[in-house]
Amino acid sequence: MSSSIKVFAPATVANVGPGFDILGLAMDNIGDQLELTLRDGTGIAIDMPGSDLPTDPKLNVAGVSVQGLLDQVGSNQGIHITIHKNVAPGSGLGSSASSAAGAVFGANQLLGSPLRKYDLIKFAMMGEAVASGKAHADNVAPSLLGGFTLVRNYYPLEVVNLSFPKDLVIVVIHPQIEVKTSDSKRILRKDIPLEVAIKQWGNVAGLVSGLASADYELIGKSLEDVIVEPVRSMLIPGFGELKTAALENGALGCSISGSGPSVFALCNDPEIAEKVAKSFKDEYTTLGIDHELYISNINEEGAKIISA
Ligand code: HSE
Repeated sequence: MSSSIKVFAPATVANVGPGFDILGLAMDNIGDQLELTLRDGTGIAIDMPGSDLPTDPKLNVAGVSVQGLLDQVGSNQGIHITIHKNVAPGSGLGSSASSAAGAVFGANQLLGSPLRKYDLIKFAMMGEAVASGKAHADNVAPSLLGGFTLVRNYYPLEVVNLSFPKDLVIVVIHPQIEVKTSDSKRILRKDIPLEVAIKQWGNVAGLVSGLASADYELIGKSLEDVIVEPVRSMLIPGFGELKTAALENGALGCSISGSGPSVFALCNDPEIAEKVAKSFKDEYTTLGIDHELYISNINEEGAKIISA
């Protein structure tokens, strides 16, 4: 059993249009890197070079998640965690999930893998509760498991790995402003008219079916969020322009990534993805908004060991 390990856990696009708090996918070229080391004695110690997020293990998403895992397996092993944040907090790209998923994955490995990856989701969710006030699983599940995931049920937790066409490409633009998930959850309506809910669950089912059968027209039609996007898009500069540009350039669909402010477009062709990325860049350059752009396939592996 190694006493030190370096791991990677991918950033994620959650909600994926209509699937608020239940759908998510893993990206393959951005994520947090963590080093975990067994330390003498008990307790979790955390370093986050270059970050001003809390390092107190009771307030840190990685600390809380790993403590949940240690409690479950009945261990009081001391663990030192260094988190290299690559996923910007408040970006809508599953920043807290990436740290929480990486931490529980790495700690489980150091402890000799007493639990399966799937069983780690509930501990990473504890980190999400610290970060946003809600233990949602739509970011931590794909960050741990990879792929495109559906939280079919929360109590008890049931996560399903969805089939999806392998040629999907995600384009994400991240305007350099921070939106706290807790804030963008608070502004949502709590009462949904029945006819709106019917449209939304039709879209969720259509999206899942379209993914399974590689029916791109169905995926595109179903990538519509009639509940959350109309409210949260008000927090995102140029959202309407980005969406129009994505669809005009051939994206299957476009919506808010997680709780924003990042915006994603789903494409089924790398050339279209390049065109969409350029149109995103042009829009934000015109509007004078600093941004980061990502083009990614769906990461099928999820959290992984970099070195042990
Ligand atoms: N499903 C969560 C939300 C994701 O939209 O609030 C947060 O990234």
